[in-house]
Amino acid sequence: MKILFLNYSGKLGGAELSLLDLAKVYPDALLGLFEDGQFRQLAEQNQVPVKILSDRTIAVRKESSWLVGLSSLGSLIPLVANVTQLSRDYDLIYANTLKALVVGAFASLIARRPLVFHLHDILSLDHFSRANRRLTVALCNRFASRVIAVSQASLNSFIEAGGRPEIGVKVYNGFQLQDYSDDDPDEKRQHNTAQQLRDRLGLDDRFVIGHFSRLCAWKGQHILIDALTHCPPDVTAVLVGDDLFGEQDYVQELHDQVARLGLSDRVHFLGFRSDVVPLMKMCDLITHTSTTAEPFGRVIVEAMLCGKPIIAADAGGVLEIVEPGVTGWLVPPGDAQRLAETINHCRNYWQETQTIAQQGRQQAKQRFNLTVTRKQIRHLLEQVIAARSPQPGRSLELRQ
Ligand code: UDP
Ligand code: GLC
Repeated sequence: MKILFLNYSGKLGGAELSLLDLAKVYPDALLGLFEDGQFRQLAEQNQVPVKILSDRTIAVRKESSWLVGLSSLGSLIPLVANVTQLSRDYDLIYANTLKALVVGAFASLIARRPLVFHLHDILSLDHFSRANRRLTVALCNRFASRVIAVSQASLNSFIEAGGRPEIGVKVYNGFQLQDYSDDDPDEKRQHNTAQQLRDRLGLDDRFVIGHFSRLCAWKGQHILIDALTHCPPDVTAVLVGDDLFGEQDYVQELHDQVARLGLSDRVHFLGFRSDVVPLMKMCDLITHTSTTAEPFGRVIVEAMLCGKPIIAADAGGVLEIVEPGVTGWLVPPGDAQRLAETINHCRNYWQETQTIAQQGRQQAKQRFNLTVTRKQIRHLLEQVIAARSPQPGRSLELRQ
């Protein structure tokens, strides 16, 4: 199967890490990126061939208006021409995220190649302008053979926005279980590294709360910082992640908030890290604090797979991952007080907390296995390609 994977961003967000996990298993695939960056480097290290398709930035963001969209046509046209030409050598175009959908849809029309869209979003007005939501749904309905949504919440938002239910399918992100496993011969080394990491940061006697997300207002790092003021003084937060999509003002606000609340020795900014597993293992507890509905939330599953207690914000795909009181805890989005109360509860009932974390680990292993995710997607892609290249006697129908 020859797949042309398309992705706008050259940065390493969850949508990119998730795409890389898929692209790795298609030896004849090409990953077309609309900008250069760390994503290219990581893909190449994983033997995925990459081509940078544009040297210009596309100004459109999810929340942009039609006018901004129109003004970016100048950079889109050469990109569409480029992708159309390229896609003639591939069986299928796989668009990851909205900008790739726009380019992939037109290329699919001109080059007559089937299109699959991977939706990593919730199509709500919290994240999208009306214009971009309409555009996403219209392009999917008209051009995509399949829309793979990252959660039921994401799929529901597509259908509620007018998406054709028959092309939508939910497929959860999957994870390479051995990276987190207790049976991994590296596990001992990982624990040592975790201990070393704690020592290096001077966290040994602290109760360490991890937060693993790009620094961005809706990911809500400020909620965790506020929550610290309601926790005992040894509770310390480690913020792992960087500003990926131009949110420098928010990063500055976080630093100001820490200084204003006198928390400089209780909040550590570690920036973007590629050693997330040992860092998670270094933590006592992990929080997820998105203030609007999270489409999926890879970090939540990763925390569970590391066997760590997770407190997550109760909205979007998160509800499909965490069963409160059984595999983790949920608190209302944006509620620092409830977050602090839950942190303190977990700490006070540590035995019960460990039991829940272990239940979370078991469930995450069963439900978010990368091998299963890859199989589901391969099957979908095979169906789409088969339906486009009919042989005598073969049905053109796509089945779920
Ligand atoms: N991540 C990382 N380094 C960091 C911070 C985050 O590798 O410094 C990874 C994290 O482990 C997760 C992904 O980035 O796999 C973020 O995905 P998620 O779905 O949680 O959120 P997104 O940023 O995609 O909205
Ligand atoms: C997006 C979403 C996130 C999801 C990730 C992988 O970046 O914001 O919730 O986990 O894609 O699907």
